[in-house]
Amino acid sequence: MSSIKSSNVAIVGAGYVGLCTAAGLASLGHRVTCYDILPEKIDGLNANVIPIFEEGLDERISQSVFEGNLKFHHDLDLAVANADFIFLCVPTPQNADGAADLTFVLNAAESVGLFAKAGATLVTKSTVPVGAAHRIAQALSRTDLHVASNPEFLREGTAMKDFYNPDRIVVGSDEISVSRRVAELYQLPDVPMVLTSPASAELIKYAANSFLAMKLSFVNELAAISELTGANIHDVTAGFGLDKRIGSMFMTAGPGWGGSCFPKDVRALLSISESIGAPSTLLEAALQSNEATFRRVVERVDRIVGPGLEGSSIGVLGLSFKAGTDDVRDSPALAIIERLIDRGASVKAFDPKARLGSSSSRVIQVGSVAEVFSGADLVLVLTEWPEFSEITPELLLPLMRRQNVFDTRGILTDAWRTKSHRFERIGSL
Ligand code: UGA
Repeated sequence: MSSIKSSNVAIVGAGYVGLCTAAGLASLGHRVTCYDILPEKIDGLNANVIPIFEEGLDERISQSVFEGNLKFHHDLDLAVANADFIFLCVPTPQNADGAADLTFVLNAAESVGLFAKAGATLVTKSTVPVGAAHRIAQALSRTDLHVASNPEFLREGTAMKDFYNPDRIVVGSDEISVSRRVAELYQLPDVPMVLTSPASAELIKYAANSFLAMKLSFVNELAAISELTGANIHDVTAGFGLDKRIGSMFMTAGPGWGGSCFPKDVRALLSISESIGAPSTLLEAALQSNEATFRRVVERVDRIVGPGLEGSSIGVLGLSFKAGTDDVRDSPALAIIERLIDRGASVKAFDPKARLGSSSSRVIQVGSVAEVFSGADLVLVLTEWPEFSEITPELLLPLMRRQNVFDTRGILTDAWRTKSHRFERIGSL
């Protein structure tokens, strides 16, 4: 694909970030070797079983494996031995106090230190607390390696598109030449590069996710105000988002924000701010506001169906935290479903991709949209899968016990308003 210099790259961690980064860099012509601590994951990848659903990822992986640019290895030593750049893409889960847990990152760095060749650069992609780069450098126990922080800004569902079309590339290192070499791996000369210190790069990542989460909390509060004042949130966000200083992207009101990143990163930045004696009241408020959004959805269901949800049957469309992914980690849909069940409702849910498995035995997961409507007192749309915008009321409403529909994502057509006994959306009457 490219005539630009190709490098040997190792990826440590074949999760969502690691696989997307591996597939992207390999497609640019770099020779990429991917390692994971779970041997079964590597076996699966070698048998072309991709462990996550991400648009375009499987094709990219197959193509790069076929071209010989992408390999998967059980052995860390083999994976990193020849690498010029070693990307750390391991999880940083949340501790009980909200802080990010660096155990996986530091263990991986320590192991990389045993096998990396002299002069290689360890690049941290995992989202890590400000100041982690120095701890990672210490864990390497080597003075002949470079360290850089290169946060990722890939959204689940559009990760491959985001990889090739980023708004910016951020690299933090104490050596500017190292930062430049890392940024050049992406072969995007026209994309703005922010080459900075490790601490700034680490903070940029938290700042981006936290700002977006705060923006959504604000939009969801405006939706509540709209409902009570007769305004329409779509017109309101269109109207104030067109101010270029504000921007009209990431302005869709919904059931609350979630996913594997926003809740964790907002809490981690809040924890950092508290630990250094500069507590962020805005981050605290954004989290509380999001909880209030979940509660408002539940209260509205109660108002439509109840009073009281005991014995009611609620059908739910969508389980993943947003469309385009099978990921249910910190999904607003699950947060809301749990609250409905706590109040005595029984919940049947359908999602085109997400599977709950045995961990969420309280929810009945069904295999079709029709089963969600069948016998329900209310159908609640919680994820904005495009296929839901194509369903029509004629055959589905007659299946319901009571014809109430509440669309928290604003994707059902207006036909539902005219046909349902009661039809409601977030952010308008
Ligand atoms: C987020 C960031 O957008 C990525 O830039 C970042 O790289 C990633 O986290 C990460 O740190 O790895 P992601 O978690 O995939 O990406 O999801 P988003 O598309 O940002 O959506 C987050 C939540 O906000 C979802 O619950 C979504 O439904 C909600 N949302 C988003 C809205 O309610 N309204 C919107 O207009 C946009």
